[in-house]
Amino acid sequence: MGNILIVFYSRPRSEGIDGKQGLSKPGNTEAVALQLQRLTGADIFRIETKKPYPDNIDRLGEVAKAEKGAEARPALKQTVFDMSRYDTVILGYPIWHGTMPMVVKTFLEKADFSGKTIIPFATHEISYMGDSEKDLKDCCPAADIFPGTALLATGLSKAGEQIAGIAKVAKDKEAYR
Ligand SMILES: Cc1cc2nc3c(=O)[nH]c(=O)nc-3n(C[C@H](O)[C@H](O)[C@H](O)COP(=O)(O)O)c2cc1C
Repeated sequence: MGNILIVFYSRPRSEGIDGKQGLSKPGNTEAVALQLQRLTGADIFRIETKKPYPDNIDRLGEVAKAEKGAEARPALKQTVFDMSRYDTVILGYPIWHGTMPMVVKTFLEKADFSGKTIIPFATHEISYMGDSEKDLKDCCPAADIFPGTALLATGLSKAGEQIAGIAKVAKDKEAYR
C-alpha cells in the first residue's frame, strides 16, 4: 500500500444552503471524505475557492452555471500543494450541472499527477458521475484513473458498502486493476 491522499470539494459548512445548513453539518461530499479518512487513515485536503460562493441556492446555481459555460477556473484559496509524497489520490466532488465544480479543475490542472493513481467519487442527485470522468481525463492526462463511484446524495446513509469499496480499492489498487 502506498501513500493515500484524499482530496475533496464540498459546499463549505459556513455557506450552507439557504441558511439550512449550519456550521456543524458537513456537506455530502465532505461527509463521505471523512468516512474514507477513517477507513484508510489517509491525509485529507479540502479544495476551497478564494471567493466564497453565494449562500442562496438559486444564486449559487447561476454562478456555477456561468462558470461552467465559460470553462472558468475559479481561484483556489490555497496557493500550492505538494503531492509528491502520495501515489494514490481519492478525489471527491459533488456533481454541478453535469460535471465537477470548476474549482476542482483549477486544482487538477495545477497539481502534478504524473505517475499517480486517481480514484474518483462523486455525490449527485440524478447525474451519477455525469461528464466528470471524461473531464478528469482531460485535466490529468498523465494520471492512471480508476472508474468513478457515484453516490446518491439522498441515500448516503445506505452507502456504507460503496464507501468501503472505495477505501478497499485505494488500499489495494493492484488487486483491482
Ligand atoms: C450548483 C449545483 C448544481 C448541481 N447540479 C447537479 C447536477 O447536474 N446533477 C446532479 O445529480 N446533482 C446536482 N446537484 C446536487 C449535488 O450534486 C448534490 O447535492 C451533492 O451531494 C452536493 O454535495 P456537497 O454537499 O458536498 O456540496 C447540484 C448542486 C448544486 C449546488
